Order: sequence, then C-alpha cells, then structure tokens
Amino acid sequence: MGRMSEKVAVITGGANGLGRATALRFAQEGAKGIVIADMLEESGLETVKMVQNAGGKATYVSLDAVNRLENQEMIDVALAEFGSVDVLVTAAGVTHQDYLSGDREAEVKMAVKRAQEIENPVQAFIDGSLEEWQKVLDVNLTGTYFALQSAAAVMAEQNKGGSIITLASIAAKHPDAGPTPYVVSKAGVWMLTKKAARELAPANIRVNAIGPGFIETHMTTIFEIAPPERVEEALKSVPMGRRGLPVEVANTALFLASDESSYMTGEILHPDGGYFTE
Ligand SMILES: NC(=O)c1ccc[n+]([C@@H]2O[C@H](COP(=O)([O-])OP(=O)(O)OC[C@H]3O[C@@H](n4cnc5c(N)ncnc54)[C@H](O)[C@@H]3O)[C@@H](O)[C@H]2O)c1
Repeated sequence: MGRMSEKVAVITGGANGLGRATALRFAQEGAKGIVIADMLEESGLETVKMVQNAGGKATYVSLDAVNRLENQEMIDVALAEFGSVDVLVTAAGVTHQDYLSGDREAEVKMAVKRAQEIENPVQAFIDGSLEEWQKVLDVNLTGTYFALQSAAAVMAEQNKGGSIITLASIAAKHPDAGPTPYVVSKAGVWMLTKKAARELAPANIRVNAIGPGFIETHMTTIFEIAPPERVEEALKSVPMGRRGLPVEVANTALFLASDESSYMTGEILHPDGGYFTE
C-alpha cells in the first residue's frame, strides 16, 4: 500500500519539471491513475511513458491552462479513465510571455531578458508591456483558478473530500524572486490558495500551496548560462548553496496530497534551501 493508493491525481504542467517529477513520485506511491494535462503533447506523452515504466497508470490530455472549457475536460478525462478526482496539482506556469518550456532558444532568450531586468530594474519596470503582464497573469493565476474550480466541482460532488496543491513560489512573498508580472501572479496564487482553502473546507477539500525556491528545471536555465559570478551571487540567498531537485518539490507535493497532511489547509510549504530564513 503506497501513500497514494486509491487516489486519482490530475497534474497540470505535467509534461516537464515539477509536474513530471510529481507524477513519478505519485506513481511510485501507488496512485490509482494520473492525468498529465499540458500544452506540450510530446513531452506529456513522455511523462506518461515514464509513469508507466514506474508501474503506474497515466493518460495525457491537451490543456491550455487559460481555457476554462479545457480545464473542465481534463477533469472529465480523469473521471472517465480512472473514476474519480482526489488530487489536483497545478504546475502549469510561465515566467515570461515568450517562455516555452524545453525550447532552449526561448529559454536562453528568457534568461537574457531576466539578466537585463536585474541589470536595469527601473527601465524594466517602466517598460513592462500589457501583453507580458496579461499572458503571465492569465496562465499562472487565471489558469490556476479555472483548474481549482473544475476540480472542486467534482470533488464536492463525490462527497469524499480531496487535496488541491498549487504551485506558488518564493516569489509569492519576495519581490526579488522574478519579473514583476511573475511575482504578482504568484502572490495571487498564494491568496487564491488561502481563499479556496476557506471556501472549500466545508466540503473537506484541502487546498495548500508549494512555494519552491530555485529548482533545477527548464525554468531556471539562467543558472546554466549566466556567468559563474552571477550564479554565485544568486545562490547567496540560498543558505544551502544549491538549486533544489524536482524530486524535493515532488516529495512536498506527495505529503500534501496524502492523508498525512489531513489537518493542513491554506498553508504554503517552502522547499527553498532556507531562502526564507533571512
Ligand atoms: N523551477 C523553479 O525554480 C520554480 C520555483 C518556484 C515555482 N515554480 C513554479 O512551478 C511550476 C512548474 O515549473 P517548472 O519549473 O516545472 O517549469 P517547466 O517549464 O519545467 O514546466 C512547466 C510546464 O507548464 C506547462 N505550461 C506552460 N504554460 C501552459 C499552458 N498555458 N497550458 C498548459 N500547460 C502550460 C509547460 O508546457 C511545462 O510543461 C510553475 O508554476 C513555476 O512557476 C518553479
């Protein structure tokens, strides 16, 4: 009996990084079924294969997080394939308008842009475009809201509770941890998490956030291409002196998804190497 046995999980952003690592961890702990919802089909199917190789059951569904109907459809797929929805993890996210996970060229462009923002914050703040703001807020915040609504509707109807886990960030609380639209979107995700926790508690649906520090995924490619002295500078904010591994976030998600956290809701956990000790 694993810590996820009998549970069906839906994971947005499950094609890469933290979503993928979480899917694998859930599979290792005996999840009954896992829906990988992402806009990247090839990587999504790769995650499905990895879950199957780990002895689990998974299916891929195409999702653009900003599309309300597609969020409902991903929940419908979980019901049709696996019979219930017990856990939702919302890991779909972007840092910038043009960020595309796994596209090295886009990642490098994003990393260069971020370096420029750090170099000249005044200009970066003044020049911020509406398109940039809208895209990041749409995917990270509105997309999370849609996913929560769709999952909560089914969880409430099932009448056996559920666990929802949002991916916030250290950026939810610290303005230095990303570009302006990103940190604002993550602060929104954190408040949305607390609000949903209070509203959904009567239905025994728990809602918690994870606020990771810098983790080794496509999203932090900047650590691989920045000059060593910049990387060293950035890691000064992390007492443990390194980026985290995706599995270290997945383990946090596992705890929140499992019944071990049964009296915890409206909380944010920070796998961040000590970032918030200052
Ligand atoms: N990596 C970190 O250091 C870090 C730190 C704090 C928070 N986070 C958050 O964790 C979450 C996962 O990030 P990651 O590091 O795994 O990044 P990642 O780029 O490796 O994975 C993100 C996934 O989200 C998907 N996605 C993006 N836009 C989407 C959309 N509109 N519809 C559906 N899917 C979409 C991507 O295709 C990708 O598979 C994000 O919300 C991110 O902000 C990451």
